[in-house]
This record gives sequence, structure tokens and C-alpha cells, in this order.
Amino acid sequence: MTAAYITTPIYYVNDKPHIGHAYTTLACDTLARFWRLQGKDVKFLTGTDEHGQKVEKAAAAANLTPQDFVDTVSQTFRDLVAKMDVTNDDFIRTTEPRHIKAAQALWTRLIDSGAIYLGEYSGWYAVRDEAFYAESEIVDGKAPTGADVEWVIEPSYFFKLSAYQDQLLAYYKAHPDFIAPESRRNEVARFVEGGLFDLSISRTSFKWGVPVPGDDKHIMYVWLDALTNYITALGYPDEENSDFKAFWPEAIHVVGKDILRFHAVYWPAFLMAAGLPLPRQVFAHGWWTNEGVKISKSLGNTIDPIELIDTFGIDAVRYFLIREVSFGQDGDFSRQALINRLNSDLANAYGNLVQRVLSFIYKNGDAIVPSPGDLTADDSAFLNLPKQFLPTINEMQISRYAEGVWALIAKANQYVDEHKPWGLKKTDPERMNTVLYVLADFIRQIAILTQPLLPVASAKILDQLAVSEDDRLFSALDKQLLPGTKLPEPIGVFPRV
Ligand code: MSP
Repeated sequence: MTAAYITTPIYYVNDKPHIGHAYTTLACDTLARFWRLQGKDVKFLTGTDEHGQKVEKAAAAANLTPQDFVDTVSQTFRDLVAKMDVTNDDFIRTTEPRHIKAAQALWTRLIDSGAIYLGEYSGWYAVRDEAFYAESEIVDGKAPTGADVEWVIEPSYFFKLSAYQDQLLAYYKAHPDFIAPESRRNEVARFVEGGLFDLSISRTSFKWGVPVPGDDKHIMYVWLDALTNYITALGYPDEENSDFKAFWPEAIHVVGKDILRFHAVYWPAFLMAAGLPLPRQVFAHGWWTNEGVKISKSLGNTIDPIELIDTFGIDAVRYFLIREVSFGQDGDFSRQALINRLNSDLANAYGNLVQRVLSFIYKNGDAIVPSPGDLTADDSAFLNLPKQFLPTINEMQISRYAEGVWALIAKANQYVDEHKPWGLKKTDPERMNTVLYVLADFIRQIAILTQPLLPVASAKILDQLAVSEDDRLFSALDKQLLPGTKLPEPIGVFPRV
């Protein structure tokens, strides 16, 4: 079985989760579900990033010890994952012993390979970004991201990042899919071509972090600590155990565009220095605005995913976020756009199709899968559309996948309009049964395809078609509904908003 490992970034616990966090996690969940339907052995990781100055400050502001504070906030991220029906296999916290052990082991390996030296850092640091900036990057006294910066002078260990410029560029060239989408790859390559500075990877001016092995005046730079989570969860430093063996380096790291540099430059350089293979891909998605405005805490326009789920249901929120923007691009959140999509795509297009066909079968066809007569060439061609569609999918293009499935739903509604099964009841009941059978089996295939996008609704539709749990993988598209199978009473799946 092919292995696939998908990761979300681990979220800072300085504040409660918002729509950006929900989006990354749902996108990964969609991919994880998609791969499982392909029959792959999937490991899906998410979690929280709990060290660093930003979190330490947030704890102080809340009058809590860092540990109490991170315990509380991490739990809110865990609750969100549960609320969203996310199918992660693990939830990692960087304050866990397994992670501290892994981060220290990686550090030791970097020391052993000669990639780390002790020096002194003097330069700009932005706590909000947990990032160092060169003098040349400072714009009007701020980081290029707009974050406040402070001048830091302290003893620090450095990672010889500058030594990896050529290796990184050669790697990007030899592995054109390592960074996606392509425009992002070019951006990263240009950054690396511009020259790399050695990276400060330890801090001494505060305490909330992983102690540097052998020199505990220093704690590890939060990004070196955080990036290691991806291998901690596979059992690193034990490289012989089954998870590390099975899933590394089959990793796809999905990240927001703001943290691409850490994943596509620093992380691969650390791994190269440690002599470990690099992940398959780092995929950067875009950013959401709220009704056209940048989302920020100071503007008070953050969007609470829990409130959205309570109002519209998880399937609807999921569908909107995945469908509304092309994966990799920026997008705008608007409540009206969400409502419009729910009504047009879910209630009207998909919901009506299912409801019309299944209730007609229930009321006029003895509540059993109808027995078809001979299929016309048209019927057969129609029934083959979903199977033909699936192999055309670029698996990372989840928004296009949704578009493609809805094009099939449109075809089904067209088929209903052309073949008017209800009108055939009196004139040609045999043909009516054929048309209904074709439609029911088409709906079965559609519901298999919509599982990664609408897990709850798809399961209900498959239940209503009495499709067994074993027949819900993509490979089951080739099967057919068995005529005569008893069907339960149909229930509405997508309420109008
Ligand atoms: N802790 C680091 C990641 C470490 S991974 C080894 C971090 N955390 S974060 O909580 O600040 O952000 C997590 C993710 O949320 C990032 O991928 C970021 O891009 C995403 N988003 C935050 N705001 C967002 C939007 N407005 N829109 C879309 N995603 C955004 O960075």
C-alpha cells in the first residue's frame, strides 16, 4: 500500500483558533480523506506550537504560568479539530517529552555534523513572527510583514545556513514539485539566490523553550524546535520504528504562504545537515481576508470557526472554504458568498437531485433499487462520467476537484430534465425504471466522490442508497447498485439557508 503523510503547521497557542487555522486543517483533512479513498495508508498530523517568546508573553499577559497557559489554549485547538470532524491520526504538542527528546536529538546531530557554531547575535527580531530580519529588510522601522521589531544582542548558536545555498538551489531544480504552487517555488528560489545568512538558532534572554543539550543557558530557536515536530510524530530519533520507516520522507507539508520560507529553506537545510531525506512537498496556500479586509486581531475582524459551524454545519463551512478559492490562491470570506454557495451548490444542485430521485423511487418504486431494462448508449456514457473524471484530477487541486464534481452534478440534473422519469410512469414504466436506476447509480458515484468534501452529507446519501461501508472507496465506482435492494426512507440532506 502506498504511504502518504500529511501535516498541518502546528499552531501557536498565543490566541484562540480562527478561520485561517480552520482552513489549513480542513484542507489537509480533505486531502487525507481523498488519499484514504484511493486506498493509501495515510498518516495525518496536526498540533500546537507551544514555545517561544510570543507564547511566553501571552501567558504573562494572562497571568498564568506558561505551562498552564499552553495547556488551556492547546485544548481549544484540540476541541476545534474534534468539532470539525477532522481525521488526524495524532495531535502533537511541542511541550511533550517525546518532542523535546526529538528536538534535542536533531540538535545533537547538527552539532555532530559541524553545522552549528557558537557566536553572538545582534540584529532585529520580530516576536509576532518569531523571526530574525536583516537590516536591509526593515521598512519604516518594522518587519516586512508589518510586525514590530526589537534589537537583540545575545550569545547565540548559529546554523551554517549560508553553506546550503547551492545544495538547496540544486535540490529545487532536481525536484520541481518540492515547492508548490510553481509561483511560490520561483519566489523561494529567488530568495535563496539572493544569498543566505547563517541563522541564529538559540536564545538566552528568556526561558520558555527546549534547552540546548549541554548548554542549558540557551533554549532552541522556536522554529527549529517547531519544525522538528514533523519527525517527532513518526517516532524520531528512532529511525528504525515502523512509522518513521513507513512515512518519512513521504511527507506533504501544507502551510500558509507566510511561513513558506521556514519550511522550504530552513527545514530542508536542517535535514540536509542532519543527513535525513527531505519531505516530498511543501505546499503553500493563500490567505483569507474578511469581506475584503485583512484579518487581524487588532482590527477585531477575526472569524470564529466554531460560530460558523454552529450556524451552518461543518459540511457547509468545509465546502465553502475548499470550493471558494483555488487552492494556493488568496480568498475573501463573505457571509453572503457562503450563503449563496450553500443554497446554489448544496441545497439546489446536489440536494434537489438526490431528494427528487430518491423520494420518487421511495414513493413510486416500492422503496427498492429499480430493475433497469437495456441501457442506451447515452445511459452508459453518462454512467461512466465519474470514473473518467477521477483520473484527471491533480490531487493537490482540491478546489478544482470540487468544481469537477459539481460539473457532474449539473450533468445529472440535465439528465433528469432530458429523460423526465416522472413523466414516464404512465407511458413507459420500464424505461422509467431504467432512468431511475441510472440516476440512483450516478448519485451513488457522486456521493463516493463528495466524501472528502462533505463527509457527513455523503455518508447520509450513501446510507440512503444502502451502500455498505466496504463499498465506499474510489475503487467502488466500478461497482453497481444491486436492483431490488431495499432502501430506507429518504431524508433531506442540505437545508436551505
Ligand atoms: N507556529 C507556526 C507554524 C509552525 S509549523 C512548524 C505558525 N503558527 S500560526 O498559528 O501563526 O499559523 C498557522 C497557520 O495559519 C499558517 O499556515 C498561517 O498561514 C495560517 N493562517 C493564519 N491566518 C490566516 C489567514 N487569514 N488565512 C489563511 N491562513 C492563515 O505560523
